[in-house]
Amino acid sequence: MEYTKLGSTGLDVSRLCLGCMNFGSERDWMLNDTDASVSLIHEAVDAGINFLDTANVYSRGESEEIVGEALASHDRSKLVVATKVYGEMHDGPNGSGLSRKHVIDQCEASLDRLGTDYVDLYQIHRWDEETPIEETLAALDHLIETGRVRYVGASTMTAYQFTKALYTSDIEDYTRFACMQPEYSAVARHEEENLLEVCAGEDVAVIPWSPLAGGFLTGKYDRNEDPDPDSRAAKSDSVRSYFTTDNWAVLDAVRSVADAVDATPTQVALAWLLEQDVVTAPIVGPKTSEQLREVLGALDVTLTDDQVDHIAAPKTPTYSRPVS
Ligand SMILES: NC(=O)c1ccc[n+]([C@@H]2O[C@H](COP(=O)([O-])OP(=O)(O)OC[C@H]3O[C@@H](n4cnc5c(N)ncnc54)[C@H](OP(=O)(O)O)[C@@H]3O)[C@@H](O)[C@H]2O)c1
Repeated sequence: MEYTKLGSTGLDVSRLCLGCMNFGSERDWMLNDTDASVSLIHEAVDAGINFLDTANVYSRGESEEIVGEALASHDRSKLVVATKVYGEMHDGPNGSGLSRKHVIDQCEASLDRLGTDYVDLYQIHRWDEETPIEETLAALDHLIETGRVRYVGASTMTAYQFTKALYTSDIEDYTRFACMQPEYSAVARHEEENLLEVCAGEDVAVIPWSPLAGGFLTGKYDRNEDPDPDSRAAKSDSVRSYFTTDNWAVLDAVRSVADAVDATPTQVALAWLLEQDVVTAPIVGPKTSEQLREVLGALDVTLTDDQVDHIAAPKTPTYSRPVS
């Protein structure tokens, strides 16, 4: 396993992070099998993955409980556990958002479910339009000062919002977000000129979510066939939203590079992300041992600059006016 620093921090994380959203029963495409989930987490950790990502809202706490069950039989100090706060956890006032109350209450609830005294990386899942960022940053600082959180991160917001948060921490002397979790893959490149530019300029780690576009980039779907009724694409609109002409062209490029380097489309799509200087560790979401072993194989694939460009070409943005 390769390890790298999480942005400008001293924390070592594996170059693949294990996404734990699948471990639960909230959606019919999830694993919905606690024993299988726990053994997959153990297999990933045994393979050297030390970085696990979950959220309080994943199956309303079930994912965190499963991660907690897996942690119980491992050396906690060797693992980097990340979770998130923002989404709705109960009806009525203060059931969601980034108020001081919700952030602190939810951190305590996550620690209970995870069965641990601290979270290594506590992330705000989205931006809260209704809470001043100073209040959220102060609440996160309190969690750090009281030993419940080690590092803080953020996910999926506009470049302006993230920049404002970073500069507010600098001015008010709060702990900075060390890490950003955006959607990013060979078919979802909208953050290249937005959040990713901020992360590169501010030395913030990038841990992309849905690096395989929910399975689209594995090559398991075909443009001329309806997805298998049991597949995630058949059950999830968000996966089917990747079925566009441009994206099929990217997948054709991924397949041709895979043939050239004797790897699978899954491995090449992940290798493409790993070749991006801004990327720290894609968050992979395997559901089986076989899928896990395949994604781990991406770490052995090296692409040439031409192959990286070939995959990017169908979606590289073009500008009508040159910048002079
Ligand atoms: N911050 C956020 O807002 C946010 C949003 C989404 C996700 N996340 C994080 O990112 C993680 C990963 O997201 P994701 O699940 O969408 O990632 P993904 O890697 O794009 O898609 C994973 C899905 O692809 C399929 N797959 C994975 N490996 C495969 C393989 N080797 N062969 C064939 N199919 C394979 C599996 O689905 P099937 O077998 O069912 O096809 C799997 O559930 C989540 O667990 C979560 O931690 C964060």
